[in-house]
Amino acid sequence: MSKLEDIVSLCKRRGFIFPGSDVYGGMAGTWDFGPLGVVLKKNIMDEWWSYFVEHREDIYGVDAAIIMNPKTWVASGHTSTFADPLVECKECKSRFRADKIADGITESVTTEEFLAKHAKCPVCGKENWGPIRKFNMMFVTHVGAVLPDDDKETSEKNVAYLRPETAQGIFTNFKNVVDTIYPDLPFGIAQQGKAFRNEISPRDFILRDRECLQMEIEYFVHPDTWEENFEIMRQAQHDFLENNMGLDSNKIHELDVPAEDRAHYSKRTIDFMFDYPNGEEELMGLAYRTDFDLSNIERESGKSMEYRDKNTGETLIPHVIEPSIGVERLFLAVLSNAYAEEKVEDKDETRIVLKLPENLAPYKFCVSPLLKNKPELVAKAKEVYQLLRQKYTHVTWDDSGNIGKRYRKQDEIGTPKCIVIDFDTLNDDTVTVRDRDTTKQTRIDIDKL
Ligand code: GAP
Repeated sequence: MSKLEDIVSLCKRRGFIFPGSDVYGGMAGTWDFGPLGVVLKKNIMDEWWSYFVEHREDIYGVDAAIIMNPKTWVASGHTSTFADPLVECKECKSRFRADKIADGITESVTTEEFLAKHAKCPVCGKENWGPIRKFNMMFVTHVGAVLPDDDKETSEKNVAYLRPETAQGIFTNFKNVVDTIYPDLPFGIAQQGKAFRNEISPRDFILRDRECLQMEIEYFVHPDTWEENFEIMRQAQHDFLENNMGLDSNKIHELDVPAEDRAHYSKRTIDFMFDYPNGEEELMGLAYRTDFDLSNIERESGKSMEYRDKNTGETLIPHVIEPSIGVERLFLAVLSNAYAEEKVEDKDETRIVLKLPENLAPYKFCVSPLLKNKPELVAKAKEVYQLLRQKYTHVTWDDSGNIGKRYRKQDEIGTPKCIVIDFDTLNDDTVTVRDRDTTKQTRIDIDKL
């Protein structure tokens, strides 16, 4: 099993992920994606969009604003219930999420239950706690011309929140989609976009961030069919994670979340857990949100959210099945699933290799001349490089160091094939193709690449 530190180090060394605002000493819970990370992230997001939206006839996309009318969060319940249990150490003043520093307690833990666990402060080691307080995780901002010395009323009138989930941008567009597309039930609306949570303790690299990307679908169904649609969506998640993301099915575990641990809107939730380097953690959730959101929007906005079935004439508020996944968590699952350290055959050396599925690898091919100081090899290699770029786009050029070093570098960034132009190429138009996973080399005609 790979270690998280090894993956963090690889990500920085090879330009996948850097700590956010690193140059100023960082900004906890934020991360910046570098040149390779951007491509891998885009490949993951494009695969999801292609699988769930483009290749289906019943799911449509939206891209809603991040800052929404604050009534959204009153209706959704986030203003009153989107809170974690905060506890403060009275000795050193450090603050923690109570359910993360004591075993066997949930988010709804009381002060008495927490104190009975006799947890020690992870910073100073003392046991001297204040009461559990509820901490709302929404980021607050002000919209429009609000000054620091404005009175409380003016300032509160302009309060807005950075969305804590993309889902509400879907629910608030439900009527717009119905009135423009006229979809038959069941149908879904999908969205990819940023979500913000003021996590008390961001942790485990990109697993728990303050700014993250979500990919969510609200799948609207007739209430009588929620169970069968839940099963269909559940299978679709496995298919996507295992076949499109290449995740090892043995590392994915379903957790049927008990009622007391479910989000306030859910009547059933399955968390898809993944074996990350630091242990099993939630990768994504699949929730049955009933008509909770549409009914609340109807009440809060005074606008009807009813749907009229064209075929039966029945009027109803649809129920919702919601698969929701964080891009960063999927990114880390893909990376840790692909990461391997292997002994190099016949050598006293270990190589690090990212065995990424080809559809996700940032580069599909690396082209290089055997020797950098032979102009005829460089010219031929450039010709092959341009040819492949036209065909496959994601092709990289590498003429640094010796050939062994180039292979190591390409292994570390997951490039499936390295193509080397040597002196034989000049005579017979064949090249060496080295396979990332087996390290075997074969000779192939250029026009067969
Ligand atoms: N709309 C439902 C919803 O937001 P959630 O369980 O709070 O439900 C869904 O979040 C998914 O979003 C999680 O399973 C995880 O993949 C991702 N996610 C949530 N909070 C995150 C955070 N702080 N950092 C990274 N990903 C996060």
